[in-house]
Amino acid sequence: MPTVRRSFAFPRRATGGTGRAHSIGPVTSDPHASPAPPAPADIEGLLRGVIDPELGSDIVELGMVKKVDVAPDGVVSVRIALTTAGCPLRAQIQRDVRARVASVPGVTAVRLDWTELDAEGKAAAMAIARRNVAERAPETALPASAKVLMIASGKGGVGKSSVTVNLAAALAARGLSIGLIDADIWGFSVPRMLGVEGRLEGNEAAGKIRPNRVAVGDGSIEVVSMGFLVDAEETALMWRGLILQRAVRHFLEDVEWSAGLDYVLIDMPPGTGDVQMGLAHLLPRAEMLVVTTPSLSAQKVAVRAVNMGRQNYLRVAGVIENMSAYVAPDGSRHEIFGAGGGARLAAEVGAPLIATIPIEPAVADGGDHGRPVALGEGPAAAAFADLAALIVTEVSPPADLAGCSARLLGAVTAALDAHDAAQASAGSPGSGSSRP
Ligand SMILES: Nc1ncnc2c1ncn2[C@@H]1O[C@H](COP(=O)(O)OP(=O)(O)OP(=O)(O)O)[C@@H](O)[C@H]1O
Ligand SMILES: [Mg+2]
Repeated sequence: MPTVRRSFAFPRRATGGTGRAHSIGPVTSDPHASPAPPAPADIEGLLRGVIDPELGSDIVELGMVKKVDVAPDGVVSVRIALTTAGCPLRAQIQRDVRARVASVPGVTAVRLDWTELDAEGKAAAMAIARRNVAERAPETALPASAKVLMIASGKGGVGKSSVTVNLAAALAARGLSIGLIDADIWGFSVPRMLGVEGRLEGNEAAGKIRPNRVAVGDGSIEVVSMGFLVDAEETALMWRGLILQRAVRHFLEDVEWSAGLDYVLIDMPPGTGDVQMGLAHLLPRAEMLVVTTPSLSAQKVAVRAVNMGRQNYLRVAGVIENMSAYVAPDGSRHEIFGAGGGARLAAEVGAPLIATIPIEPAVADGGDHGRPVALGEGPAAAAFADLAALIVTEVSPPADLAGCSARLLGAVTAALDAHDAAQASAGSPGSGSSRP
């Protein structure tokens, strides 16, 4: 059976160092180097990835982060001011802040304390929320409440796309709404693996692309891929540089995603190139799942992907070892690509190992025929189901929208509508122009 750690702890020997400017906790090659605590500015950079799901902005922009202290022993203290004391969203924000800060090498403990925004602070936060509603462009068109998981690796061919598609299927099978962005513009494989074809249609009035949609049990997967835009893989191969960068941007900014998405999974291209850096910049709230194989060489390269993410203040939420031991029908295990790469990588980068997915011909076969193995049975299907369960319960639980600021956001939207209506009836040119 695949071994999935149901409850994880961060490995004690996290590595660290101060290799490059703007980087937090890059992994050094010295296994004995003790990690230096991050700078308060780094913690603030990381907190820009924590979104108030109802106000649609990050807690730093909203002025909710009141204090960040880092003690020499690595204890980080953060004070957060909420819009309303006793806000039910507090648990959500608390979990996100803790998870992000604790994932930084050199952090030994996280202490949070809470206060309430004063009247001026509330007005300022609401002004930001109002502006975001008006512009309808917080950071991207992705719903603010959706958790964003980037599936990345240093090396190609380790199974990112297989993991992304099967994880999407396993999450959707739990009744969740999943968005899936195939960011591998050159080597898109998601349409084939998911068994979806057909051009993406546009909503011309709104200037948006509609994602393709597959129902999975009570859940669904909405997917965009270059594969839905070009006729043949070779066409995409001819595209270069900026155009590709823009294609990924369009997937973030111009897609009409359902408002109720729980997770957005991004299948990243291999490596740490421009597309990866661009995505990391555009999506500070994204969390990385790093895929590696049991072999040493994949593990070494995967460290680069982790460092790239951390340089951009992304939380590394977990390591997934794919192509682990093959389990024969008689139950015997065969370590075809070696053993232990996932655990070694997890220890090296200070992130939890959250899944080991066995090698199984059905994974490749399901990918080739558009029937994700996660929707069937067997050791790999069980491993994907366990991974989905762990993500939902511990690694990155979905946002609970029964929160406190909905009332406030409702008031903001109503005020904006009243303003638009007043402007329209006064016949003022350009009234409400920025609202689609
Ligand atoms: N656990 C597994 N068992 C068996 N085959 C697998 C497994 N995971 C992936 N594969 C197969 O390995 C090949 C590479 O997988 P995949 O395309 O998912 O990797 P990738 O990291 O996305 O590659 P690229 O870097 O080219 O995008 C595919 O043929 C896939 O079906
Ligand atoms: Mg791939």
